[in-house]
Amino acid sequence: MKNTKPIEKNAKVVNKYLKTKLKGNPKMLYDAAGHLIVNGGKRLRPYMVIKSCQILGGNASRAMPAASAVEMVHNFTLVHDDIMDNDEMRHGVPTVHKKFGMPVAILAGDVLFSKAYQIISESKLTSNATNQLISRLAKACVDVCEGQLFDIKMAEEKRIPTQSEYINMIGKKTAALFDVSCSMGAICATTKSKDISNLSAFGRNLGIAFQITDDLIGVMGDPKITKKPVGNDLREGKKSLPILMAIKSSKGNNKKKILKAFGNQKASKKDLKEAVEVIRELGIEENVRKQALKYAEKAEKSLAKYSGSPKKELVELLDFVVKRSL
Ligand code: IPE
Ligand code: IPE
Ligand code: MG
Ligand code: MG
Repeated sequence: MKNTKPIEKNAKVVNKYLKTKLKGNPKMLYDAAGHLIVNGGKRLRPYMVIKSCQILGGNASRAMPAASAVEMVHNFTLVHDDIMDNDEMRHGVPTVHKKFGMPVAILAGDVLFSKAYQIISESKLTSNATNQLISRLAKACVDVCEGQLFDIKMAEEKRIPTQSEYINMIGKKTAALFDVSCSMGAICATTKSKDISNLSAFGRNLGIAFQITDDLIGVMGDPKITKKPVGNDLREGKKSLPILMAIKSSKGNNKKKILKAFGNQKASKKDLKEAVEVIRELGIEENVRKQALKYAEKAEKSLAKYSGSPKKELVELLDFVVKRSL
């Protein structure tokens, strides 16, 4: 996306809203809950909630509670994900469990999760719309838990999953929240099920494209831009698409270098660096980006019948998602 201004503008409003909600005692709990939020983040999911509401003629302010709730749920998943993935840095700062300790990090996640539902239940929508938002968000959270366990189990197993198993896993751990962001935005504007399902499909396919690109950045991104380390997925034995492609297409000494680091908790920084170098030189980036593009194109088709500036902004977001290095 050449112009990320609309996302940034929306993020400012969401940040203000979140700030008012993430206050209380003990202060440490709320500092931990807000830690990743105050130090960065793109706020893509709330942007999708708001734009999905606007594309159907709804008013942005009606969707603000849902938008903030989704960002809270997202941050809850990040805090717990960093524990599960043994990650020490995100947004250029120590992860929540590193900074505040494990018990506080678990609670910080729990408080974000709980507040999300509290905010939705207090929003001024009809009780039917509110019920739908709660039920859909709950279903998405169940999907994230299932997807996260698939991710962990796949990493533990020696077996190399098929591409469709990988897509199913990321569909749950990541795309479920993008999907629900769009369907929640739609519900804030309409009761028409076709519109809700169009937006839901848009979010799902965008989410898949997003995670494919994220996995690419996880092995060959620039940590200065992404503000998270490169090579950790390799060390953790994550069966991400670029890693699967790299193992498949490498040979001889190169393959040895990748496998030396892959799933090896004891891999040295040098081992990881060498493996990352080999993967970079294999030239799989184009192939991985092509896969992401395929899902982005699918997503765009779901918006065929809409027009206007929110549509343009959602289509531009697709472009950002497949081309991003952040
Ligand atoms: C990171 O998501 C977690 C994944 C699903 C890959 P984002 O890249 O959207 O997280 P922010 O922007 O740091 O909040
Ligand atoms: C993202 O998982 C999905 C969730 C946080 C639920 P990853 O583990 O792939 O994402 P990063 O690389 O830590 O952001
Ligand atoms: Mg992670
Ligand atoms: Mg993870």
